[in-house]
Amino acid sequence: ETVYAYGMHLLPGVIDAHVHMRDPGGTDKEDLRTGSMAAAKGGVTTFLDMPNTSPATISQKMLEEKLTLASVKSVVNYGFFVGATLDNMAELKKVTRTPGIKIYMGSTTGDLFLKDPGMLEAIFAETKLPIAVHAEDENIITRNLEELGLTRNVTDHSKIRTPEAEASAVRKAVALAKEYKHRLHLCHMSSELALAEFEDHADLITAEVTPHHLFLNESDYMNLGTLAQMNPALKSASDNAALLQALLDDQIQIVATDHAPHRFEDKCQRYPDSPSGVPGVETALPLMLDLVHKEKCTMEDVVHWMCEGPALVWDIMEKGRIEVGYDADLVLVDMNKTVALRGPHMQTKCRWTPFEGREVTGWPVRTWVCGKEVYREGEFDLSRPGVEVMFDHSRGGYWAGIDG
Ligand code: NCD
Ligand code: ZN
Ligand code: ZN
Ligand code: ZN
Repeated sequence: ETVYAYGMHLLPGVIDAHVHMRDPGGTDKEDLRTGSMAAAKGGVTTFLDMPNTSPATISQKMLEEKLTLASVKSVVNYGFFVGATLDNMAELKKVTRTPGIKIYMGSTTGDLFLKDPGMLEAIFAETKLPIAVHAEDENIITRNLEELGLTRNVTDHSKIRTPEAEASAVRKAVALAKEYKHRLHLCHMSSELALAEFEDHADLITAEVTPHHLFLNESDYMNLGTLAQMNPALKSASDNAALLQALLDDQIQIVATDHAPHRFEDKCQRYPDSPSGVPGVETALPLMLDLVHKEKCTMEDVVHWMCEGPALVWDIMEKGRIEVGYDADLVLVDMNKTVALRGPHMQTKCRWTPFEGREVTGWPVRTWVCGKEVYREGEFDLSRPGVEVMFDHSRGGYWAGIDG
C-alpha cells in the first residue's frame, strides 16, 4: 500500500511506560481492549502496565495471566510490572518477562503500599530487576484542600500530600539506589523540591513526568474539583516550568502518562471518597506535539522523551534482536490539525479528560503496530497485532543503550 503523507511527520510509535489498564478486576473503568485502543488512537504502540489491579500482579503466575489476557485483547504491544508486597520477596527474586519491580512508598489506588521501610531496603539489597517507585511519604506534611481552592465536592479539612512528601520519599529511594547500586526509576515526578533530591545520573537513576504535571497545576482545582485529584497531587505553576526544564536538561528522561482511568461518577463523589488518578494515554502525544507547535521544544525532543527514552530506560529490546515485534511501530502525525480535547471524543472507557476544552495543534492520524495499521482517522483494525515486549536488563542501563 502506498501511504500519502504530504506535510505530515512519521514518528516512531510512542512507548507509554506507565499506565493502569485496570484489567483484571477494574474493567468497569478500562480493560486491555479499550485501553489499548485508546493507546493506538493516541499514537502509543507499546504500554507498560502497573501492578495495582485486582488481583494485584505480585507473582510470576499473575504476571503470566495478564500477559495471556493482553495477547487476546491488546491491539498494541505490552509489558507488565510486578508489585512488591511484604511477603513476595521470593517471587521478586526470580520473576521474568517484566520491565521491573514497582514499589508504592505511599498509599494510592489499590493496596500495594509497602509500609515497612525494612522491606523497602531489603528489596534494593536482594533483588536484581530495575525498581520503579511511587515516591511519596505517607503522613508527612499535608495540605488542606480548601487552601488550594478545591472547594467543590470536598469535605471539611481534606488533606493532600505536599512537595515535602515527595522530596522525602525521593531522598530515601535515591539513597538506597546509591548504596546498593540498584537501578531506580522515579515515577511521575511532580515538584521542583523533589527534583533537587537527585542529580542527572541516568545510568543509575532515571525519572519520568506526566503531561498533567507538566500542564495542570493547583489553579485548575477551581474548575476541575475532584476530577483533578491524583497522586502525586498537582503542584504550582513554577513546578510545571521546573519539570519541563528537567526534561530539557535530561534530568527527567521520559514522559509517561500514568493513565489512571476512573468512572466519571466515581470521580464526582465527595473527597476523599473520590478516587485519585486521571486518564491520559490518548492525549499525551497531542499535548506534547502542541508544545512543539508552540516552539517550547522540538519534534526531536518529543521523540526522545516518548519513544527513545522509555525504550532505553526499560531496556526494551531493539529491532532485530528478537524474532517478532517492533518492526514498523509507527505513528503519522498531522502538525496542521488543531482540535479541542473533549471527553465524549475519548476512546478510553471512562470518556472524560482533565484537559477538557483545551485546543491542541499536532495530532496522530494513523498508527501502525508491527507493520499493521491498527488505527486510521477514527477507524480501528482489531485483528490483534499487539505482542509482548521483551526486556534485556543485561545491557547495563540507560547510557549503555545509547552507546550501543
Ligand atoms: C493511580 C491509579 O489510579 O491507579 N492513581 C493516581 O492517582 N496516580 C495509581 C498511582 O499511579 O499512584
Ligand atoms: Zn503512582
Ligand atoms: Zn537523553
Ligand atoms: Zn500510576
